[in-house]
Amino acid sequence: MEPTDPINPVNGAAHIVLDNVSMSFNGRRVFDSLSCEFPRGKISVVLGGSGVGKSTVLRLIGGLVRPCSGRILVDGDNVCELPDRKLYSVRDKLGMMFQGGALLDSLNVFDNLAFPLRESSKLDEEEIREEVHRRLRSVGLSDVDELLPGELSGGMVKRVALARAIMRSPEILMIDEPFSGLDPVSTKMIEALLLRLNRELGITMVVVSHHVRSTLRMADWIVLMLPDGAVAGTPGDLLNSQDPCVTRFLNEDPDEALAALENPDAATEYSR
Ligand SMILES: Nc1ncnc2c1ncn2[C@@H]1O[C@H](COP(=O)(O)OP(=O)(O)OP(=O)(O)O)[C@@H](O)[C@H]1O
Ligand SMILES: [Mg+2]
Repeated sequence: MEPTDPINPVNGAAHIVLDNVSMSFNGRRVFDSLSCEFPRGKISVVLGGSGVGKSTVLRLIGGLVRPCSGRILVDGDNVCELPDRKLYSVRDKLGMMFQGGALLDSLNVFDNLAFPLRESSKLDEEEIREEVHRRLRSVGLSDVDELLPGELSGGMVKRVALARAIMRSPEILMIDEPFSGLDPVSTKMIEALLLRLNRELGITMVVVSHHVRSTLRMADWIVLMLPDGAVAGTPGDLLNSQDPCVTRFLNEDPDEALAALENPDAATEYSR
């Protein structure tokens, strides 16, 4: 389809470009010749059924896995070809919130957040404390320093994971499934938080989600991954699409899709 909006990354500034990327694990194909772009400073959402390769796209952008072929440009640098030292400097621009949060279970909230700063900054303990509390406030949390991840609600885990992902002021924030397992109220709270962080900090966000309703509310740009390739556009572009695969994906009951993902026994085409 022909995206028409001015944020179209082909006309504007694409922060990240995937150009003809093919990926497989141990000879098993995940996708072939995937091409898509993510505009700078905007919220892009990668939508698609389970197993279509959404999380893999984030790992490819972060240079955590390498594609079989194709180019992945982050700010113009092809991460597939960079020597390790340069790859680290690209990774410095990236923040990642992994699917499930990936907090360290044995560390309390404070230490989970202080960890990346202790590893890589020259801040002293008092400065680290200030920085951790500033980030916690920015995700609406206070008085949670001593809590262990197991003592947090699902929505709090997401917020702490988000705070950790922005700890080092990334230019690009990649967020895997921020809404999974959340009730509708928590979903809207996280959604509002992501919007606020994007608008206040100007971070380029790449959010992976299968939550159609949230996506349509918050995305500036959508990359819908289908088994035969990606379709990209603004929410309006996709809603007006005549492509039956696109309309079927967007019009399926998102709650049913969520239920199918969370309960594989009840899965339909959403769990391939
Ligand atoms: N490290 C790995 N080794 C082998 N196979 C992998 C690896 N990572 C992902 N895969 C496979 O690649 C495919 C895509 O996985 P991926 O996690 O990217 O899907 P997804 O779209 O994020 O799915 P979900 O919505 O369920 O999170 C799956 O078939 C998965 O089993
Ligand atoms: Mg995934």
